[in-house]
Amino acid sequence: MAIDILQISKNALEAQKTNPNVINASIGMFFDEERKIGGMPSVSKALRELPDMSVMPYPAVDGGKEFKDNVIRWTFGKYEKQIREEMFVDACATPGGSGAIASTFSVYSKPNDYIFVSNIRWQYDRFADRAHLKIYEHNMFKDNGFDLDSFDASLNKLCDIQKQIIVIVNDPCHNPTGYTLSHYEFTRIIDILNKYEQNDIIFLYDVAYLEYTSEEDNRIKMLELLKLKEHVMTILAFSGSKTFGVYGLRLGAAIGLTKSKKHIDQFRPRFVNEARGSWSATPTISIELLNHFSKTDNYKLFSKDLNHIKDIVAKRSELFISQANQLGLKTYPFKSGFYVIVLTDKPMEVYEKLSEDGIFVVPMENGIRIALCSISLKEIDGLSKKIQAYL
Ligand SMILES: Cc1ncc(COP(=O)(O)O)c(C=O)c1O
Repeated sequence: MAIDILQISKNALEAQKTNPNVINASIGMFFDEERKIGGMPSVSKALRELPDMSVMPYPAVDGGKEFKDNVIRWTFGKYEKQIREEMFVDACATPGGSGAIASTFSVYSKPNDYIFVSNIRWQYDRFADRAHLKIYEHNMFKDNGFDLDSFDASLNKLCDIQKQIIVIVNDPCHNPTGYTLSHYEFTRIIDILNKYEQNDIIFLYDVAYLEYTSEEDNRIKMLELLKLKEHVMTILAFSGSKTFGVYGLRLGAAIGLTKSKKHIDQFRPRFVNEARGSWSATPTISIELLNHFSKTDNYKLFSKDLNHIKDIVAKRSELFISQANQLGLKTYPFKSGFYVIVLTDKPMEVYEKLSEDGIFVVPMENGIRIALCSISLKEIDGLSKKIQAYL
């Protein structure tokens, strides 16, 4: 289903101009309870105050040493030291997490290859389409948890027909379901990747929503990556858009992690070449924004804003899920994050009827996606009932 989410959101914003009661639950951007973007004052202030030298010059194509060190430290948190001691790590700045995904496809696949993805997913198909890649799916859920058997069995079959495989896992706060893998499930995924030693596995670990999980330690699963064997090259896709709420700025990074010296030696030249030949360089202001918030005092301010936003998003999901449960609406297993899916076997019809009624959601394969990040508690209160009327 090729749906243009940005267009749906535009339509919603247009409709809101004449009818303030229109609800725009279509897009993965945080809006505060007053429908305003810029929920992190520390970020807005930093952007306004960055000096010319942090905005105007061309940056280093890979973001430069300071950025690379900072984004690696940011992503691995307190486990960075241990990870660096046991594995090779490198990074390249990209325009958003999207840039990390597109460049990984370009660097590690050739036309007509398959990529390995879950049957419920964000729009990786668009990146695949552009890179002339095909989709090989595994089933995502079984008994309210991740379907490890399908992941293993499907990967097994694909390993028989293709040597180098890009395997995508989007965790935590999976888009579009809001599911987060348990530690056990993540460990088992690592075990499964390790089994296919005859293959070259590119593990594209999409951590766009890393900051928004309700897990007590949102970096602890990173330590499991240390167990990956030499045939696995992990690329973490970091999204500054989601982390800092700066969606239009285009800040991201591809972080390479591996036990293989050969793989890490190839990482920088390949990603830099990819960048130079496509987007050229990531905006200097994006790179410098991450550098700014990597300084301890600035980080403290950001962290306060982030906790505030997380709190609001958690309250929104609690309200929505509790009302949906009361009415018996079915959702995929939800843990936390920006989105939830309400299941229906006629998503297109429900989407159309809801938009006629001034409620903009995104139709997906087996349901409609509600972006809880972008609607207020007031808008959520009673939303389940309105949706139920069209199911
Ligand atoms: C799962 C997932 N990965 C990656 C991205 C990429 O985001 P960006 O390119 O804005 O950093 C998104 C954005 O919606 C996403 O939902």
